[in-house]
Amino acid sequence: MIKIAPSVMCIDLLDFQNQLRQLDAAGIDLYHIDIMDGHYVPNFALNADVMRSIAKVSKTPMDAHIMATNPTQYIDFFAEAGAEIIIPHLEALLHPVRALRQIRSLGKKAGIAINPATPLSGLEYMLEFLDLVCVMTVDPGFAGQSLIPSTLGKIARLREMIDASGREIDIMVDGQVKEETAPELVRAGANVLILGSSGLFSHPPEDYRAVIDHYKNLPGYRSNS
Ligand code: DX5
Ligand code: ZN
Repeated sequence: MIKIAPSVMCIDLLDFQNQLRQLDAAGIDLYHIDIMDGHYVPNFALNADVMRSIAKVSKTPMDAHIMATNPTQYIDFFAEAGAEIIIPHLEALLHPVRALRQIRSLGKKAGIAINPATPLSGLEYMLEFLDLVCVMTVDPGFAGQSLIPSTLGKIARLREMIDASGREIDIMVDGQVKEETAPELVRAGANVLILGSSGLFSHPPEDYRAVIDHYKNLPGYRSNS
């Protein structure tokens, strides 16, 4: 089954709590929380206070997509703030295995995000420490960019790599996941879709349930066989 994660930074802040209610009612699986430090990416987005506010009104799990330099210093912090999945960027980690072990030691799921230009070879010796890989289809930092086509083949190769390992590792795809791109992303092997400005929030809240059901029922990778 495809899992759906709205990108919270794309929610209308002037209607925030109502939007959360509508999203929960629409059957989402996860809130995607973009954390940016203005250094690893030239932007700022959400923070731990937003996570604690969401946790007051929703039981839906949250992740923390940490787009920050030296992300290990924030692992405990975002675990404490309520992240169930913690996703630092591979490119920002000096000791990825140590970071992933630290995340799991806190009882959280360990994820790694990789930018479009980052080769899969960097993941080869850490699959046993991973619960999720977040494949960026855009360079991180901003919503509303254009998907980089070469990331489609990268997702397919990653899915093959994971299947060959015999491990259950989710492939999250982040950046311009929308009606036009989602079918191919899912066919390639992505099973956690980050829906942002174009994929979800371009629709009125009353359509969220239908839109999310549409994505959830896209024919997946296994259906190719
Ligand atoms: C970008 C963030 C994404 C972004 C996706 O760095 O990680 O989550 O919000 O938004 P869209 O899908 O609109 O590009
Ligand atoms: Zn993100």
